[in-house]
Amino acid sequence: MLNPLEFIKESIEKIKNQIGDEKAIIALSGGVDSSVCSVLVKKAIGDNLVAVFVNHGLLREGEVEEVCNTFEDRLNFIYVDASDEFLGALSGIEDPEEKRKIIGKVFIDVFEREAAKIQAKFLVQGTIAPDWIETEGKIKSHHNLALPGGMVLELVEPVRELYKDEVREIGLELNLPESLVYRQPFPGPGLAVRVIGKLSKEKLEICRKADAIVRQEIIKNKIDKELWQYFAVLTDTKVTGVKGDQRDFGYLVVLRMVASVDAMTAHVPELPWSVIRDISKRITSEVSEVTHVSLSISDKPPSTIEFA
Ligand code: XMP
Repeated sequence: MLNPLEFIKESIEKIKNQIGDEKAIIALSGGVDSSVCSVLVKKAIGDNLVAVFVNHGLLREGEVEEVCNTFEDRLNFIYVDASDEFLGALSGIEDPEEKRKIIGKVFIDVFEREAAKIQAKFLVQGTIAPDWIETEGKIKSHHNLALPGGMVLELVEPVRELYKDEVREIGLELNLPESLVYRQPFPGPGLAVRVIGKLSKEKLEICRKADAIVRQEIIKNKIDKELWQYFAVLTDTKVTGVKGDQRDFGYLVVLRMVASVDAMTAHVPELPWSVIRDISKRITSEVSEVTHVSLSISDKPPSTIEFA
C-alpha cells in the first residue's frame, strides 16, 4: 500500500540527491503525471526546475489556456507554440506508429532547444508503470519513454513505479486542484492518434469540437469519475447523411468511453442511453462536417483504448 506522505518525503530527498544544484527541465502537459512530477521536483529544487509546456497543435479544446492559467504562477513556466513544426512534420502520414515516432522526434528537437537555452542537465519525465511495461511488451511505443537520441540530459522519473490511481493520491496530497488530479489521461501524441489517417487542421478541429461535446456532456451528467477515458475519434470513413432536405456526405465519429484502473485492461460500462443520444445529437447538429456518430463497445483486450 502506498503511503502518500512518505512517498513525497522520500522522493524529494531522492530528487535533491540526484539533481543537486543543477538545472532540470520537464515537459509539462497538464496531465496528472507531469503535473505531480513538476510539483514534486519544484519542492525539491525550486526554480532550478523549468517546466516547458509545448503546444504541438494536437491538444484538446481549451487546453492551452487551462494549462497556462494553472501553472504560470506556480512554476518556473515556459509556453512554446510549436504547432506548425509538428503539423508540418506529420503532413501526409497515416500510420499511427509513424505519427508517434515523428511526434516523439519533434518533441525532442523542441526540447533540446529549450534545454540548451536553460542549460539543463536533467530531464524530468512523468513516466508511470504501464508506460514502460507496455513498451517492453512491444505493444505500442510510448514516446514519453524514448531516450532522446544524442541528448545528454539525465532522466529523472519520480513516479515511474506508480500506477495512475497512486499518482492521483499523490496529487491530492500535494494540493493540486481536483479537476486536474481527476483529469482523464490524454496520450502524448494527442489528437494525432484520434484523427484516423492523414492529419489536417480541418480534421483536427472537427475532432476537437466533437471531443469537447463528449467531455461537456459526461461532466454535466456527473459520470466522469466512473470513466477512465471518454473521447471522440474522427474516423476517415465518410458516410451519407441528410441535413435539412439535402443529401450530405460527412465524417463518421466514434464515441469511446471506457472504465479502467490502470489502462492495462478496460471495459465499456453501461451508460445512460439518454446521455449517449444527447452527445450524438449535439455532435451531428453542432459539428457540420459530421453526419454519423457511433459507439464503440469493445473492451481491452482485445481492443486497445485508443483507436490508433
Ligand atoms: P491503449 O490504446 O494502448 O492505451 O490501450 C493505454 C493508455 O495509454 C494511452 N496512450 C498513450 N499515452 N503516448 C502516451 O503518452 C502514447 O503514444 C499513447 N498511446 C496510448 C491511452 O490514452 C490510454 O490511457
